[in-house]
Amino acid sequence: MSQLSPVKGKGAITTQRYTFAPRMAKTPKSFIREILKVTERPEVISFAGGLPSPALIDVEGIRAACASILEKDGKVALQYSTTEGYLPLRQFIADRYKKRLGLSVSPDEILITNGSQQCLDLIGKVIIGAGDHVAIERPGYLGAIQAFSLYEPVFHPVTLGEEGPEIAELETTISTSPVKMFYGVPNSQNPSGITYSRRNRQEVARVMEEYGALFVEDDAYGELNFSGTSLPSVRTFLPGQTVITGSFSKILAPGMRMGWVVAPPAIMEQLVIAKQASDLHSNYLSQRIAYEYLTYQDIDSHIRKIREVYRNQCDVMVRMLQEEFPKTVSYTHPLGGMFIWVTLPDGCSSMEVFEQALKENVAVLPGMPFYVDGGGADTMRLNFSNSMPEDIVRGMSRLARVIQRISC
Ligand SMILES: Cc1ncc(COP(=O)(O)O)c(C=O)c1O
Repeated sequence: MSQLSPVKGKGAITTQRYTFAPRMAKTPKSFIREILKVTERPEVISFAGGLPSPALIDVEGIRAACASILEKDGKVALQYSTTEGYLPLRQFIADRYKKRLGLSVSPDEILITNGSQQCLDLIGKVIIGAGDHVAIERPGYLGAIQAFSLYEPVFHPVTLGEEGPEIAELETTISTSPVKMFYGVPNSQNPSGITYSRRNRQEVARVMEEYGALFVEDDAYGELNFSGTSLPSVRTFLPGQTVITGSFSKILAPGMRMGWVVAPPAIMEQLVIAKQASDLHSNYLSQRIAYEYLTYQDIDSHIRKIREVYRNQCDVMVRMLQEEFPKTVSYTHPLGGMFIWVTLPDGCSSMEVFEQALKENVAVLPGMPFYVDGGGADTMRLNFSNSMPEDIVRGMSRLARVIQRISC
């Protein structure tokens, strides 16, 4: 009998027992998705998710872009298209790298993906064989841990300090194990909110170059830096060994599922093959709408508005942490992005905080799933982008009381 056939009883299917590929046993279920199910009640003030503010999704602008594309080029926009993606959109992305970061990228080095999450899957598919060694920040982005886990790597966590990954630890890791790639989020990292310093970026590049490893630079939050000034991409210092992933989710709308990957030609060739096998190409209508929107709306002023709103919400959350929380609680003060990372005093469990806070209708995200080696039981992630300032004040007051009550 095929391993995938349902098990049959006396003439009828009584139970469903299936044998899955071993890789599935090594891939964690997204803890966030599970937690979000509990926190979806309308009365809950949720700092647990990672959604952009609904107030900053320009429905009217996207409606106009959609109507315009359907009217002027509907039959083409609704057809199959190329795997690489709509060339003018790739050119737009390349031009923006030049303008924002002084980075020279050719449109041929860009592949449009189904959100930047798909980049992580494709990178895993073409780079990671079972048992290959992969370094990742500690704490690391949960979605990357999940995407890479499907390809059965050996993970090496590298501590993320205030300035970025601890360079000595990275160097020791990579000199003692055959690490193929290091995945990191240099701008306003998820979950910690940490931004690598300029010097740290140069050092990461130096170590990668010395040991011939690839750096995967996830730049989902690069446009959301509150000051509006960007630090250089690691690719500036490591052009041949950096793969960048980018996303329109935080500046346009996550539901459009538009992202991209920038890779040197030899890697791009493999990514295109993997993408073809996966889904032929990304949603072409979405690509055309995104390009129409980016061409005819003032995206720079839209991004300035997003930065302003998030900076204010972040400031309110930090002020609440400063003023209402026990001094033994430490936290990051992000330069951008959507998250603050909180470390509770020794022996205090964020899972207990999660459970107690939920009874007060506040949701937080315990930090353990962001660690590939266990640990993080005293950490939690707080999202500030999806709550209005007044909800942040109310929710954080309740959270402070919970933490005081369980005597952290
Ligand atoms: C660091 C990071 N990378 C990638 C993603 C995936 O985003 P998307 O697929 O919407 O581009 C996220 C989503 O929150 C993220 O935080």
